[in-house]
Amino acid sequence: MNSSEPVPSGKTVYLKDYAPPSYIIEKTELDVDIYKGETFVLARLQFQCLDERPQALTLDGEALELLDIAIDGKALDSTQYRCDHRGLTLHNPPERFVLTTRVRILPEQNTSLEGLYRSRTIYCTQCEAEGFRKITYYLDRPDVMSDFITRVSADKNECPILLSNGNKIDGGDLDGGRHFATWHDPHKKPCYLFALVAGDLAKVEDRFRTASGREVTLQIFVEEKDLDKCDHAMSSLKNAMRWDEQVYGREYDLDIFMIVAVDDFNMGAMENKGLNIFNTSCVLAKPETTTDAGFQRVEGVVAHEYFHNWSGNRVTCRDWFQLSLKEGFTVFRDAEFSADMGSRTVKRVEDVAVLRTLQFAEDAGPMAHPIRPASYMEISNFYTLTIYEKGAEVVRMLANLLGPADFRKATDLYFERHDGQAVTTEEFVQAMEDASGRDLTQFKRWYNQAGTPRLSVTDEYDQEQRRYSLTIRQSTPATPECAEKLAFHIPVAMGLLGEAGELALKLADESLDDLPEDNTHRVLELTETEQTFVFTDIPEKPVPSLLRGFSAPVKLDYQYSRADLATLALHDSDGFNRYEACQKLALATIQDAMLAYQQDTLAEFVPDSTLVQVYRLLLEDNSLDQAMLALMLNLPSEAYIAEEQEVIDPVAIHFARRQVAAYVGSELAELFRLRVSAYDPTREYRAQSDDIALRSMKNAALGYLMLLPTAEDLHLCLNQLARANNMTDEMAALTALVCCEDNTAQEQARDALTAFYQKWQDEPLVVNQWLALQARNPIPGALERVQALLQHPAYDGNNPNKIRSVISVFCNNNPLNFHTGTADEPDAGYRFLAEQILQLDSKNPQIAARLITPLTRWRRYTGDRGQAMRLQLQRLADQPGLSPDSYEIVSKSLN
Ligand code: ARG
Ligand code: ZN
Repeated sequence: MNSSEPVPSGKTVYLKDYAPPSYIIEKTELDVDIYKGETFVLARLQFQCLDERPQALTLDGEALELLDIAIDGKALDSTQYRCDHRGLTLHNPPERFVLTTRVRILPEQNTSLEGLYRSRTIYCTQCEAEGFRKITYYLDRPDVMSDFITRVSADKNECPILLSNGNKIDGGDLDGGRHFATWHDPHKKPCYLFALVAGDLAKVEDRFRTASGREVTLQIFVEEKDLDKCDHAMSSLKNAMRWDEQVYGREYDLDIFMIVAVDDFNMGAMENKGLNIFNTSCVLAKPETTTDAGFQRVEGVVAHEYFHNWSGNRVTCRDWFQLSLKEGFTVFRDAEFSADMGSRTVKRVEDVAVLRTLQFAEDAGPMAHPIRPASYMEISNFYTLTIYEKGAEVVRMLANLLGPADFRKATDLYFERHDGQAVTTEEFVQAMEDASGRDLTQFKRWYNQAGTPRLSVTDEYDQEQRRYSLTIRQSTPATPECAEKLAFHIPVAMGLLGEAGELALKLADESLDDLPEDNTHRVLELTETEQTFVFTDIPEKPVPSLLRGFSAPVKLDYQYSRADLATLALHDSDGFNRYEACQKLALATIQDAMLAYQQDTLAEFVPDSTLVQVYRLLLEDNSLDQAMLALMLNLPSEAYIAEEQEVIDPVAIHFARRQVAAYVGSELAELFRLRVSAYDPTREYRAQSDDIALRSMKNAALGYLMLLPTAEDLHLCLNQLARANNMTDEMAALTALVCCEDNTAQEQARDALTAFYQKWQDEPLVVNQWLALQARNPIPGALERVQALLQHPAYDGNNPNKIRSVISVFCNNNPLNFHTGTADEPDAGYRFLAEQILQLDSKNPQIAARLITPLTRWRRYTGDRGQAMRLQLQRLADQPGLSPDSYEIVSKSLN
């Protein structure tokens, strides 16, 4: 069959149509013979009918050329099966049989990076969600779990390393300079967890002794040149293994755990059983080439994939509607791990910032979906911030509602009860209920209603009665799957601040005996559309500290005065809410500036001084964690400000934010200069959280100074750029220089960018950062610069990391330039994006579809802009043969 046949667009799959498989595949034996330009896959599958024998059995298969087919050793004739571009149908199959197929596939030509493909010199696989069907005919669904034996053969010189899941049970030389290796995975698994790697790879090796005393061999496979960048991933892996034993009682279950790094990868990484495959960007790290954020990402992703061994592999998903079962839970697990490894509050603030900008925007747009969707067209489009990050927030709420002891009981129960099974989110919540005795019926609405709830809070203080009451109303906007929402069960963690600090709390219906130990903190459980909570014995009118730790993924409105916000920023015992008060204060200040911009008075605008007063006090407080301080001093991002606007004006946002930043920078210049000059750029680098904290504060200070730099500031910046011994400081200085509008700085920036590229051109991951910096640089002319970058030898239009660094970064993180285009063509940014998507769509539909996101937000923008964005979506919709991936997003966005 022909692999280039177009796949029809627009078929929707519904959760309600789920039916268990009619057959299982007890045993899967694969022979994968890799040759230059083509690969042959021989599959022997042991089928067993589960109930009534069906008239036909359809196996999934795409882009496969069927060479041989037999049942129980007898070749089939053409009346016994049918083959098309979606799969293979067996007519009247026996109750129990062995199907043998041999297919030819073309990994070298597989640009979708799904199935078996070649990344530089390495053959590797990506099967989740539905990539295994590009390797052989199969029941490509997660509820079919099989015992896998995989024999790989290839040229011994080209591919000295041959890997698959589980344990190696055989290997040796073959004729013609070839060799083979046979792997057996003792754990039954769905085919999305299958992996195979063949290539010329070097490795670092270590060992880990599990709690019960088993020795596990740990291996990280990379290209020879990257051997010096594996230490951090290895120590992160060992930390993650230990942490999962201690916190969840989960031990690793094979004798060997392997990680392979490849350059061309659609996502971050993949949890294939015993053989994780990673994007190089999520595994390689060393101080000279990797920023602190890069180190933290490696730690987080290594842990995430490792944790999937239990939350994903041992207990997997029944169907892809349940994706958040493993992803939401595993993101929650990796976030808690990172919090334990570094600073808990900082990690929380960073995660909430992503959630509130990107996930909230998704939840308010045409692709909004519940964490357990009811339908989809293309499952690849559902690896979303909602499934991952909001899914993690829902698990976090469960963990907090149950408390640590019951939550641990519940996860133990879940893992024990469902080990080896493919289950649903219902079963996850059932384990929570059974272990805790709590009724979570209403809570489960979080799984099937999309949209971000909005809480409006009002309060009343009765001096005479010494009573304080909080009234909370919830409402959730309509989303595509449902217009009328039922009330959510929302935990609102809170406290009350008085003149002298936190007030002791007593709710009117609480008895004195069951007051909690920490009596200044409560979790109010909102279950109605509107509820009032009354506190007694409150001596003064307090400032409420609401939604502490961001206890639920909601928007919260309460009319704080600026003085209230200053109080919270300086005195709240909850670190998250101190940060949040700063954000609110900064947001109010920027919104004033936006008003001035719209009235054409921005040049004369003088911001309210509260923000700077608070910042000054924070800077002078030596007890504060420096990373926290840096976050508190960070103005809300343009994306976050946009998320807070009814109708988005990206130009006003940019200039207003910049004006406020410049004001802060000049008012606090002395304090900032002190931070930068006190820092020794040659100080030895450590990727530890207190060092990261120091660097982040110092680099935030440098960023402020470089908005309106004096000669001394420019000198400080250039000095840091020249002398930095690590990428965090080097990149921070380069960024500050490149984004500085000052003329002298601009000249220096041009030279610095050239020098940086020359220094780092052989390090693709550093080059990606160099590309991304230019793509997000807000100085006018970015589109022209980006177009030039696409012609640069460093750019590779087939490599997802390069595409993300240039195109996604420009369209998502440079709103001013993306939305203003060029001098003569204001819609040039939108047209540019549509053209890039069209070029990419047939090569790599998953990445093409992801690029569409900024255009899907067209309804949020003012008339002309919104229409111009819509026009480009329409242009995509009109493209014949658009991939199902892109089609789903385009059609839902135009609706
Ligand atoms: N399960 C992988 C993870 O750890 C991601 C797989 C992504 N696959 C895809 N088709 N988008 O999150
Ligand atoms: Zn995952």
